[in-house]
Amino acid sequence: MKIVMIGAGYVGLVSGVCFSDFGHQVICVEKDQTKLAKLRSGEVPIFEPGLDILLERNISEGRLEFSDSLASSIVDADAIFIAVGTPARRGDGFADLTYVYDTARELGEKLSTDTVIITKSTVPVGTNREIKRIINSCSPSAAFEIVSNPEFLREGSAIEDFMRPDRVVVGVESPEAEDVMRNIYRPLNIRETPVMVTDLETAETIKYAANAFLAMKITFINEIADLCEKTGGDVQQVAKGIGLDTRIGGKFLHAGPGYGGSCFPKDTLALVQTGERYGAPQRIIETVVAVNDARKSDMADKIIMACGGSVKGKRIAVLGVTFKPNTDDMRDAPSLVIIPELIAAGASITACDPEGVDEARKLLNGVDWVDDAYTAADGADALVIITEWNAFRGLDLSRIKELLTTSVFIDLRNIYPPKEVFDAGLTLTCIGKGTIES
Ligand code: UGA
Repeated sequence: MKIVMIGAGYVGLVSGVCFSDFGHQVICVEKDQTKLAKLRSGEVPIFEPGLDILLERNISEGRLEFSDSLASSIVDADAIFIAVGTPARRGDGFADLTYVYDTARELGEKLSTDTVIITKSTVPVGTNREIKRIINSCSPSAAFEIVSNPEFLREGSAIEDFMRPDRVVVGVESPEAEDVMRNIYRPLNIRETPVMVTDLETAETIKYAANAFLAMKITFINEIADLCEKTGGDVQQVAKGIGLDTRIGGKFLHAGPGYGGSCFPKDTLALVQTGERYGAPQRIIETVVAVNDARKSDMADKIIMACGGSVKGKRIAVLGVTFKPNTDDMRDAPSLVIIPELIAAGASITACDPEGVDEARKLLNGVDWVDDAYTAADGADALVIITEWNAFRGLDLSRIKELLTTSVFIDLRNIYPPKEVFDAGLTLTCIGKGTIES
């Protein structure tokens, strides 16, 4: 099949590359010339494990190309995916659909063949009908089908998520469009991946409901962690204890410094806005947003308390600044709140991150960047792990103890068993373990 992917951002690029690996003929349309030049030479402009190998293979085997011309790319396309960005709009948090609607207009002006137009960008309920209306208004005789096909991949494990999804969701209006979508995803049949066919509005809502539910799960366990800290109890065991109930499930129950990234913060906010707009308030998610925002700041207070109530004049080693491991993405990362608050309280910060430093430099002022955890710890008054990169999971804690001027070790991701920390002569501040801290 000939597939066109409009937008080679995160979702567009991963989807385009994976579709070409399925054996389809794929053209990714990208207007940013710098990005386009990189992609054409086989260079991946984002950090995503495994993507470089797939990109190179599919370019060299002739299934994947990149273009800046929408008009020439869409000729004879069986399917055209819209995967342009939908950032949160400044001021009201609603998803900014400018790029989506601009693309719809451009398609309306240039569409010449019968085709299926599929939205992969995360868009609020009602957007696909509006895309259809826009294309029809530009080109009343155009023959096309509209489909909503939300994406559920996670940064850092995007290839695996795309190739082995729990399900594929397609919102369609006709059996013909359903057939095209089933053909596109046919390579997943071997894994018996469920393909869920719905109407447009259901598919759009599934995407927001999934992200909001996961954000809620994380926020729930974070509040239980707070309770454990006051009452005694171990949040990791509580999470395991409830997660073994198959109605609840054990995933997304790791307590931490609050969720971040390009999706949960934006999509929860957009769902709240949609609820308000349609008179169906999403009160649970409103609370999730507020609790998660407050949590990032609470983490700075937690660090200050671990340092004896003041960080004035103290140097703090920070390990990990990206919103999660295996990405260079800093969007809405807890570190963006925690580090400035520590600096405002008088601390100096020495930080490291395996992939995030280039991006972080642009967003965090006054941080001294170093290459590794031991250099960060050298002479620091406290060490805090904000992001659970593998590089920070097997630290020589005795060496860390020798390098620090005190014994303050703060693990905001609960990656170290308390006994290991204590055996190294360190004190531990972690998340939701009321009985073990010492
Ligand atoms: C998320 C969803 O997991 C994907 O299914 C979805 O496709 C994607 O958003 C999207 O809408 O594009 P992503 O933002 O890449 O994926 O990252 P996650 O792995 O979901 O992590 C999000 C945040 O939650 C991170 O800050 C992470 O540290 C935090 N988290 C996650 C926890 O604090 N605890 C957990 O148990 C899990």
